[in-house]
Amino acid sequence: MSEDPPPIPTALRMQAHACRRLGSPLNGALLDRAAEDWLAGGPVKPLLAPWAHCGVRALFDAAASLRLIGAWHELALCGDDPAMAQAYAALDEAAIWTAARHAMVADRARMAAFMAHEPQTNEVRRAICLVGGFLEIAKVTGLPLRCFEIAASAGLNVSWDRYRYRMGEAAWGDPAASVSMDTDWQGPPPTAEIPIKVIERAACDRRPTDLTDPAQRRRLLAYVWADQPERLARIRAAIDVTLAQGVTVEAADAVDWTRARVAPVAGAATVLYHSVFWQYMPAQSQTALAQLIVDIGSSATRDAPFAWLRMEPDPQNMLEMQVRLTLWPTGTEQVLATVHPHGAMVNWTAT
Ligand SMILES: C[S@@+](CC[C@H](N)C(=O)[O-])C[C@H]1O[C@@H](n2cnc3c(N)ncnc32)[C@H](O)[C@@H]1O
Repeated sequence: MSEDPPPIPTALRMQAHACRRLGSPLNGALLDRAAEDWLAGGPVKPLLAPWAHCGVRALFDAAASLRLIGAWHELALCGDDPAMAQAYAALDEAAIWTAARHAMVADRARMAAFMAHEPQTNEVRRAICLVGGFLEIAKVTGLPLRCFEIAASAGLNVSWDRYRYRMGEAAWGDPAASVSMDTDWQGPPPTAEIPIKVIERAACDRRPTDLTDPAQRRRLLAYVWADQPERLARIRAAIDVTLAQGVTVEAADAVDWTRARVAPVAGAATVLYHSVFWQYMPAQSQTALAQLIVDIGSSATRDAPFAWLRMEPDPQNMLEMQVRLTLWPTGTEQVLATVHPHGAMVNWTAT
């Protein structure tokens, strides 16, 4: 009888496949090497030892493979390991593997400490998935917006209205903005000739990334794949905007914060928004937050509307990412788009 393959190399190979599919052949190749290394008892094995008891699903939930490639990239970004830095700068996969294999022995404690920390990501191009929703809210309500982001990480998408977007034939935002993005826009363009005024903005995260701390900033960059330079350039520019604007992300649980901070106000559309966060809440919190949102919605009026805009996996198919909008007082819900998890594609389906 053949034995099941061990979960860790299986998870590494699956993540390798996902990286290739999401446009990072470099990490695809590196993670395949890591799987081989684990099977051969190389230095990957002790680094992944904290997850040795996990099945494949738990390894994915813990993002163990991403922690590993994040730890290598972080070492390159910090500059303490010139061989690693040079190999990453050249995007030379063989040289990165050689340097990483050496560093996993020589710098094991540092890498293990990096990997013990929960991954922290903030994807700027998710804003292009959400912006059509903000436009829709402004169009339908005709009101300025009060924007509340939960699970905002470093707060890079708190300033979504300060960025420039190209969405197929349409564009929105300041043409001179230092952060700009486009996407493979499919379907009709959104109505983009709408000036939007954000009159209030606030954000929370359970564990906000403090951008004034170089180590935390580097952690955020380390989780951006090195062979996607455009993503790295965009996040660096968004960090500058976020710091310059003095954006603050309050350290709070999404349910508590929403209860304390979010309520409709006359003369503005109040928007609660989030991206790629729902799955990180325990089921009990998901139920509590969903109920709280409905309760907030029930206090909305035509003069004080409330919108819930989110980019999250389709509840019926976790592999498909959707943008949904629910707008009160009517409570009308629509799927606006299906999207790539990093915003590389937006298939706009709203009528
Ligand atoms: C995958 S990151 C996404 C960050 C950001 N929304 C984005 O799309 O780039 C998930 C975020 O959810 C936050 N988070 C998880 N559970 C939370 C909770 N109960 N309350 C507040 N934030 C939470 C994490 O700290 C993390 O910053």
